[in-house]
Amino acid sequence: MDHLDTLAVHAGRDDLTALGVHTPPLDLSSTYPLPDVERGGDSYEALAAGGTPIDGGSHVYARLWNPTVARFEAALARLEGAEAAVAFASGMAALSAAVLAHTASVGKPHVVAVRPLYGGSDHLLSNGLLGTEVTFCAAHEIGAHLRPDTGLVVVETPANPTLELVDIAAVVAQAGGVPVLVDNTFATPVLQQPLAHGAAMSLHSATKYLGGHGDVVGGVIACSDETAAALRRVRAITGGILHPLGAYLLHRGLPTLPLRVRAQQESARILARRLLTHDAIADVFYPGLHGDPTGLLGRQQCGGGAMVSIRVRGGYAAAAQVAASTRLFTHAVSLGGVDSLIQHPAALTHRPVAADARPDADILRLSIGLEHVDDLIADIERALETSRTAAAPAEAAVPAGA
Ligand SMILES: Cc1ncc(COP(=O)(O)O)c(C=O)c1O
Repeated sequence: MDHLDTLAVHAGRDDLTALGVHTPPLDLSSTYPLPDVERGGDSYEALAAGGTPIDGGSHVYARLWNPTVARFEAALARLEGAEAAVAFASGMAALSAAVLAHTASVGKPHVVAVRPLYGGSDHLLSNGLLGTEVTFCAAHEIGAHLRPDTGLVVVETPANPTLELVDIAAVVAQAGGVPVLVDNTFATPVLQQPLAHGAAMSLHSATKYLGGHGDVVGGVIACSDETAAALRRVRAITGGILHPLGAYLLHRGLPTLPLRVRAQQESARILARRLLTHDAIADVFYPGLHGDPTGLLGRQQCGGGAMVSIRVRGGYAAAAQVAASTRLFTHAVSLGGVDSLIQHPAALTHRPVAADARPDADILRLSIGLEHVDDLIADIERALETSRTAAAPAEAAVPAGA
């Protein structure tokens, strides 16, 4: 069963029939009985070091291991073509663990990263909270910025919010032996599997497409067994665990992931082409819409995905007016769910980014859901009409700090 659609339905469920159940059990235990002191101690030692449960042992404590979380991890690893996956309380907890495992703690505090990234990721790398020093550069300049103390390379493709594609294999080639982490949140394993192109880690804000229904916050990293052990060790120490109920819901969402992503992508493609011709819109950002100069569509990413960004004529004031005027699109951060969202990156998701690297104030980001595309287009067109009447002074700018 190698097709992704089949894996999405069955991965992480192989033992259910033997257990006599049809859906994965939800284990909410915070602690676990110990067979005896010695095997309890051995179990603790194995799990705290980032290992997997030992034969005849115990899961000891839910910060170390949880079977419901482990099922979701096993399923996601299969979808990503990875040996393993490690789940966290959020996408940011996952990124924090990757940074902690690969940088200052192993004497390599330097990180090379390609902008744009999600604003929270940019902020985490920039502010030095985890002892990192970051160099931001263009993807083709990575090799020139590596240092002996570079522990990690971070890229996001498609990038947030410009939807630019980054050539993962080219990044890996430049990075030499330095592990490359790819934020795969926007593409999902349905469209892109970064490990197949040499990346060491594929990170998701599982809050987005993996969950898909706007009711879970979580993060996950697909990687090798060795890297998974290092990440689990950080997770056991820092405690950024995914709650089993979140893992249950994420696992429950995986069977429909391929269908959701493809349907949402089809609407995004239609909407992007339509909006390109709208006279209240100066530009539309969508992979492949202006050709494919990188040649990555098909080779690295099979389809443009379901995110669309638009540059609205009339600057910040007009963009703010559009965001406030849609009815079907909820004005809210986040993305990847079955319902469509609209948000202003410069004011919200990318607010913590340095001013000179922040998205332009006239850009809005749309997450396309499962509503009928004609209704979505009508909603945006209606909102654009209201923006024409909004005050749009030539100097309109995002308010200070945004
Ligand atoms: C691309 C991307 N990566 C990472 C994150 C962080 O994930 P979380 O919000 O689950 O911590 C986000 C959140 O918006 C995101 O959009």
